[in-house]
Amino acid sequence: MSNRIVVTNDGSHSIFNPKINECYHSKHGAIVEAEHVFIKNGFSAVNKHKLNILEVGFGTGLNALLTYQKTMQKLIKVNYHAIEPCPVDEDYYMKLNFTDLIGLDKEKLLDLHNCTWEERHRISSYFTLTKNNTSLEKYKTNVNFDIIYFDAFSPDKQPEIWDEKIFKKLYGLLKDNGFLVTYCAKGVVKRTMKNVGFEVVVLDGPPGKRQMTRSNKSISER
Ligand SMILES: C[S@@+](CC[C@H](N)C(=O)[O-])C[C@H]1O[C@@H](n2cnc3c(N)ncnc32)[C@H](O)[C@@H]1O
Repeated sequence: MSNRIVVTNDGSHSIFNPKINECYHSKHGAIVEAEHVFIKNGFSAVNKHKLNILEVGFGTGLNALLTYQKTMQKLIKVNYHAIEPCPVDEDYYMKLNFTDLIGLDKEKLLDLHNCTWEERHRISSYFTLTKNNTSLEKYKTNVNFDIIYFDAFSPDKQPEIWDEKIFKKLYGLLKDNGFLVTYCAKGVVKRTMKNVGFEVVVLDGPPGKRQMTRSNKSISER
């Protein structure tokens, strides 16, 4: 069984993975969800002119694309790092309709996908991209991040990536006062994050989901 492109409720595409039996985004709207969870409550929640961002699960490139667009609008420099063990095939990413819906050239999404792995690419004077073709479990870096976009498959489908060992690693990858954002607000996940030292804040979720989570490293308060 192979992946297939689906249309979500805001008209934007997503990919359905039949092996995991889950979509890459909310059926209520891929762009609407990404804008709410990662842009509004992630990127736009920091008042800095230069940010290091790590995305767990590059997938369709939607979060990177939206972040790239915001850097141009807000004149904020971003070093964007993304981890992806199973890259989306060209046949799929060529067809995704994100750029049409957000008013960017089609080429921009292709630029992000066509970048070689394990190298830093200057996409614009405000946005560099480093993609790592590995899993979060194996990922190594010397970079510390202001924000982590944690966009893995759900804990029901991929429990191993929502456990204490992983959150300890993510906590260690953040700068003091950095934070992680995720669409997930499941009780067991919030407890695991608290156990490793995160201050967990529950925020309103995107359309169709009651809540989401922002987890602060908050070293200075402890
Ligand atoms: C819910 S999808 C979201 C993808 C992406 N953020 C997007 O907007 O299209 C989850 C992504 O995590 C990736 N993934 C799966 N296992 C992973 C792992 N162990 N480490 C990092 N990423 C993983 C999947 O291949 C998939 O691209």
